Amino acid sequence: MRLLIAIALIFTLAACFPNNPVKMSMTANPLPNTPEVAAAGKVIFEQRCQMCHGAEGRGDGAAAPALATKPANLRLLNNKPEGLIAMRIIGGGSVMPAWKNILTDEEIWQLSRYIKTISQQEAQTVAKK
Ligand code: HEC
Repeated sequence: MRLLIAIALIFTLAACFPNNPVKMSMTANPLPNTPEVAAAGKVIFEQRCQMCHGAEGRGDGAAAPALATKPANLRLLNNKPEGLIAMRIIGGGSVMPAWKNILTDEEIWQLSRYIKTISQQEAQTVAKK
């Protein structure tokens, strides 16, 4: 019971603060579904993410061999809601930095859309083979 109350409290607190990862993970991408949004995400990706995740997002960037954990292949996230992708970007990982205080919410949603787009392309290519 105490655990339940603790969990409920965490979610309530989380919901009170805007732009927090828990809330964002449950939110659909608020940006319009246009090619411009994905294109904006691509520009940020090339500046901030490509060195680790690779030009096509396959996890084979120039810095990848030097890392303790291999960067994720970002073309395989077709099944993940964009909110979850956004949460992963916000929170970072054991190797990946947390982007919460570096990127704006809008930039994070643009990146989520871009990653979703290349994952959909990848899924279609695989289906055709
Ligand atoms: C320093 C190298 C590095 C940079 C820069 C980097 N990442 Fe990562 N990323 C990783 C690694 C390594 C992982 C695997 C989790 C971990 O860190 O242990 C990861 C995981 C992820 C995941 C989770 C994938 C999954 O399977 O759910 C997403 C999404 C992601 N990165 C997006 C990005 C985006 C977007 C950027 C640019 C804003 C970025 N990354 C920049 C190294 C990096």
